[in-house]
Amino acid sequence: MHGDETVGRELLLHLIDFLVTSYSHDPVITQLLNNTRIHVMPTMNPDGFEAVKTPDCYYSHGRYNKNGEDLNRNFPDAFEHNNASIQPETQAVMNWIKNETFVLSANLHGGALVASYTFDNGNSVTGSLQGYSKSPDDDVFIHLAKTYSYNHASMHKGLGCDNRPMFSEGITNGYSWYQLEGGMQDYNYIWGQCFEITLELSCCKYPPADQLEQFWRDNKVALIEYIKQVHLGVKGRVTDRNGNPIPNAIVEAKGRPHVCPYRTNQHGEYFLLLLPGTYEINATVPGFKSIVKTVEIPDNTGKFSALKQDFSFSEVSLPFSEVSLPSIVASCPKTPLYKELELFSAAAKPIPHVLALITVVLVIFK
Ligand SMILES: *[C@@H]1O[C@H](CO)[C@@H](O)[C@H](O)[C@H]1NC(C)=O
Ligand SMILES: *[C@@H]1O[C@H](CO)[C@@H](O)[C@H](O)[C@H]1NC(C)=O
Ligand SMILES: *[C@@H]1O[C@H](CO)[C@@H](O)[C@H](O)[C@H]1NC(C)=O
Ligand SMILES: *[C@@H]1O[C@H](CO)[C@@H](O)[C@H](O)[C@H]1NC(C)=O
Repeated sequence: MHGDETVGRELLLHLIDFLVTSYSHDPVITQLLNNTRIHVMPTMNPDGFEAVKTPDCYYSHGRYNKNGEDLNRNFPDAFEHNNASIQPETQAVMNWIKNETFVLSANLHGGALVASYTFDNGNSVTGSLQGYSKSPDDDVFIHLAKTYSYNHASMHKGLGCDNRPMFSEGITNGYSWYQLEGGMQDYNYIWGQCFEITLELSCCKYPPADQLEQFWRDNKVALIEYIKQVHLGVKGRVTDRNGNPIPNAIVEAKGRPHVCPYRTNQHGEYFLLLLPGTYEINATVPGFKSIVKTVEIPDNTGKFSALKQDFSFSEVSLPFSEVSLPSIVASCPKTPLYKELELFSAAAKPIPHVLALITVVLVIFK
C-alpha cells in the first residue's frame, strides 16, 4: 500500500509460489485451496516503489502515489468527511471490493512489528474518549490479530523497534496506536463486508534483499493460519419460495449491528465471521417478517468450512425481490454517524468456547 514499505510485496510472491507448489503435495494446503478463493495483490502503489531510488529503513516519499497522496488516508471514512480526492489506485481497489465477496483480508505494511485492527478512526460512541475505538466484532478482530502475532516468529513478543515492550501480545487497536482517517481497514469492514487487519511486518521499511528470505520464514505459518480464519463463523444462502437466491437480504448476528448491515451477494450468499459460541442470526428481506435462527458455532477452521445455515423465505418469490430490494450501495449511508451502536452496547455477548496490500491478501469462501 505504501511504496517504500517493501517486505509485503516479496512475501506475497513467496506465498503464491508456496501455495501453487504445495498443492497436491501438502494435504493442508491442498484442502485450503480446494475450499477457499484467495486473491493476492502484491502492490497497490507501484509508482511509490519505483520512486524510491535507494533502499532506506525509514520513511521516504515512496510512501505516496504519483500524485503525492497517501493511499491509506484516501478511502471514504465512516466517522468524518474525508476531503482527499479518491485516487485511481483507491478507486480500483474499491471497485474490486464491491465486485467480489471478500470476507477476510490483510493489508501489509512496514515500519513496526504489530497486527493492528479496526477501528482506526472513531467517536465517543465507539470509545474514542477511552482511547480505544471498538467495533461490534472486537472479539473476532482480537482473535484474528492474535492468530497472526502468535504464528509469527516474534510479533507476539510485542517489542517496539527500539526493542522495548510496546504492543501487548503483538496486537493493537488501530485507534489506540494512533488515530487516522480514510484508512483501508475501516473501509473494508464498514463498506466491504470484509474483516481486514493491518500487518506491520518489519521495523526497517525497505531492508536489504538478503534479509527477505528470513522475512518469509518468519511470516509463512502466520499467513497460512490467518487465511484459514476465513472459515470461522457461519455462512449460507437466502432463498425464495422456489429456491432462487435472494440478493441484498440483510443477515446479521444479534447484538452486532454493522453500520451498513451485511447483505447477501448476487448468489444469495452471506458470510459472518464469529468466534465459537451461541448466536441468533437474523435474516431479513425488507417488507417481510425476519427469520431468526439460533446457531451453535463450532471452531470449523480446521475443516475449511464455516457452519452452514440457510434461510428460506416461503412468502417471497424472485421477481418481487429482484425489483424491490435496494442495492448495497444505495442503502448504505456515505457517512454513517454510528449512533445506533449505543442502543446495542448492552446487548448480550455470545459465549466464546475457544480461545483460543498494499499488499493485500484477500480471501473468500467458495
Ligand atoms: C481437492 O480437490 C481435488 C479436485 O476436486 C480432488 O481430487 C482432491 O481429492 C481434493 N483434495 C483434498 C485433500 O480435499
Ligand atoms: C475537510 O473540509 C471541511 C470543510 O471544508 C473542514 O471543515 C474540515 O476541517 C476538513 N477536514 C480535514 C481533515 O482537512
Ligand atoms: C468482477 O467479478 C467477476 C466474477 O468474479 C470477474 O469475472 C470480473 O473479472 C470482475 N471484474 C473486476 C473489474 O474485478
Ligand atoms: C432483524 O433485523 C431487521 C433488519 O435489520 C430488524 O428490523 C428486526 O427488528 C430484527 N429482528 C429481530 C428479531 O432481531
